[in-house]
Amino acid sequence: MRRELALFLVCSVFATVFGTDSSPSFKIDTVNSQFLLDGDPFTYIAGEIHYFRIPHQKWDDRLKRVRALGFNAITVPVPWNLHQFYQDETPILSGNLDLVKFIKAAESNGLYTILRIGPYISAEWDNGGLPWWLIRNTKIGKYRSSDPSFMTEVTQWWKHLLPKIYPLMRKNAGPVLMVQIEHFYGALGICDQQYLLQLANMAKENLGNDVVLFTVNPPVLQFMRCGTLPNILPTIEIVPNANAGEIESWFSMQKAFMQGAPAVASQFLINPFKLWGKNVSDPYPNNLIIQTAKTAFALNASLSFHMTHGGTNFGYWNGAVDPYPVTTSYDSFAPISEAGDVNPLYISIRNWISNIPGWQNPPTPIPANLPRTAYPDVQLTVFDTISGFIIGANPECWSSPETPRTAEYIRQGYGYIYYNTTIIECGSLYIPTFADNAYIFLNQNFVGALYKQFGSIHNNTIDVQGCLDQFNSLEIIIEITGRDHNNYPVMSRGIQGNVYMRNITLENWESCEVPIETYEISLVKNYESLKQHVFETIDFEKSQSAAIEQPSVFIGNLIIKTAPADTFLDTRGWGKGVVTINQYNIGRYWASIGPQQTLYIPSEFLHKGENLIMFYEFEGATTACTATACTAKFTNIPVFDY
Ligand SMILES: *[C@@H]1O[C@H](CO)[C@@H](O)[C@H](O)[C@H]1NC(C)=O
Ligand SMILES: *[C@@H]1O[C@H](CO)[C@@H](O)[C@H](O)[C@H]1NC(C)=O
Ligand SMILES: *[C@@H]1O[C@H](CO)[C@@H](O)[C@H](O)[C@H]1NC(C)=O
Ligand SMILES: *[C@@H]1O[C@H](CO)[C@@H](O)[C@H](O)[C@H]1NC(C)=O
Ligand SMILES: *[C@@H]1O[C@H](CO)[C@@H](O)[C@H](O)[C@H]1NC(C)=O
Repeated sequence: MRRELALFLVCSVFATVFGTDSSPSFKIDTVNSQFLLDGDPFTYIAGEIHYFRIPHQKWDDRLKRVRALGFNAITVPVPWNLHQFYQDETPILSGNLDLVKFIKAAESNGLYTILRIGPYISAEWDNGGLPWWLIRNTKIGKYRSSDPSFMTEVTQWWKHLLPKIYPLMRKNAGPVLMVQIEHFYGALGICDQQYLLQLANMAKENLGNDVVLFTVNPPVLQFMRCGTLPNILPTIEIVPNANAGEIESWFSMQKAFMQGAPAVASQFLINPFKLWGKNVSDPYPNNLIIQTAKTAFALNASLSFHMTHGGTNFGYWNGAVDPYPVTTSYDSFAPISEAGDVNPLYISIRNWISNIPGWQNPPTPIPANLPRTAYPDVQLTVFDTISGFIIGANPECWSSPETPRTAEYIRQGYGYIYYNTTIIECGSLYIPTFADNAYIFLNQNFVGALYKQFGSIHNNTIDVQGCLDQFNSLEIIIEITGRDHNNYPVMSRGIQGNVYMRNITLENWESCEVPIETYEISLVKNYESLKQHVFETIDFEKSQSAAIEQPSVFIGNLIIKTAPADTFLDTRGWGKGVVTINQYNIGRYWASIGPQQTLYIPSEFLHKGENLIMFYEFEGATTACTATACTAKFTNIPVFDY
């Protein structure tokens, strides 16, 4: 009896909140320039949050923090490249890629979902979310968005994805309100509206003709012209601005592209992201962010705070603003930090929402920050040189008599590619075209690195000296640093074309996969065979101190005596590389250039007992080492040196 009464009460509360015609629906009312949710006027304050940058065990924690701000929705992009690692593979929608589960977790926390299905999402994510294998089909590695083979691939991907979303749409009583196609399409300089139209039609085929679709562009006339479609809601990006008149003019431009459109800033950009080797500071004071939110809200605008929680670019999934890769931390000065802490911006936003009269989703209590531990130092020993490690792991290789193979050819989508050949004479080595960084070794000794960061024609040449009398092994490891997220993919990875020694073409190449790759957000693909390789080969007694000066793989054992807590690995004193802990790739470090000096390790990547830590150090000669061992340090606060 009591249970029925409770249900009755819940139902009547819903009926009051959502009006009398409470059949689930989400619509645009162009007469009154507003959204109608289940028939009632509706405005949203959403937080952009990326399930693929958070271990799934922490989804609920992060969503609760978003909800506690007083937000009523989240904005979620879908990275196609993460869901479909290989072209011939069925897309994955489980584990850390269980988008449906994430949307339902948001719903159970009182948050609606606004979905960005791209296929291009930008999101500071490798290739803006487009799979690396798309460029295998073209000769010059450049394709147009309306290329039929591209459209075929998008069709298949959406046919897989969207039927899972359909039952979650509001009209089916689910939490998904509306769906964004592409991202800043008008700003990409392509202006192929036929392509946008094809996408819109394809989305409707899968989600129904009544689905509310939208585009987002910066409020610049030319971008709006190229990036919007008739009868598809045009929304805009706004940035913090003290000038209320200017903010109003941005929304006027939005409305100029659709009469009666509700005001929507699908991307209220409140913070920048960090780049390796570049000083990025936060240009927006908290009070300016709040002032802008108030101005927009007074214009009845719906807003999505970008980012509300950034998270981490685990593995190799970061994007880049060429030539600068996005850092592993995607903290982004967001109100909810990378490790989930709430900060002063969080409190300011929450205070603003607490004071909105009649806001139907008032803030809830703020969850306490999660505990963190600075684990004791761990001694690391050299396991092998980087090239010794790669060869020892028995990689799959492709032989070619002339030019080395590209990354795409050998299906190495992310991480590193290993090349070798034999040379007779030393001298000037010239690699005209490669992406992104090259590490060069002669007879297993490190010669030097060519970084894209300093890219100019001169840095495609390196002097190789110390040849032995006869045959010498020349090895080149190419690092894929994360593809630019601001463009459609235009460039292949790895070595492209000939390589010259003293102006003579080098032949007889081996192009090999490198077995330190990740799928999902961070799982090392070949972990079991890697582990086997490590434990079968390891000889902790055998001192390999000579290799400490070389790019090498270092291993150690973090012993945890109680339930694990979140922590940060302190990479100060190391050079550049990646770190794996157990079967997880916690991402790239580049301590020698900064600014990021610590790598976030969520507790879920650790367990009670032994934890295998591996540093894949590509620059060598680290100050984290003595003559015989190196030290891995932990801290409970993140460190950025600029
Ligand atoms: C905002 O919505 C209210 C209520 O519908 C309306 O009275 C007001 O004119 C709207 N303001 C603007 C700037 O559109
Ligand atoms: C190149 O790599 C292959 C595969 O690991 C290995 O068998 C071969 O000995 C290497 N050759 C040279 C010249 O380093
Ligand atoms: C790039 O090339 C220039 C000119 O040869 C050289 O001075 C510079 O040191 C090189 N930079 C790197 C990082 O190798
Ligand atoms: C390579 O060729 C160029 C022009 O053909 C010449 O200027 C240069 O000296 C040559 N370099 C070597 C190392 O032979
Ligand atoms: C980074 O930029 C900010 C703002 O321009 C400046 O105040 C700061 O000194 C810079 N830091 C470094 C290390 O260059």
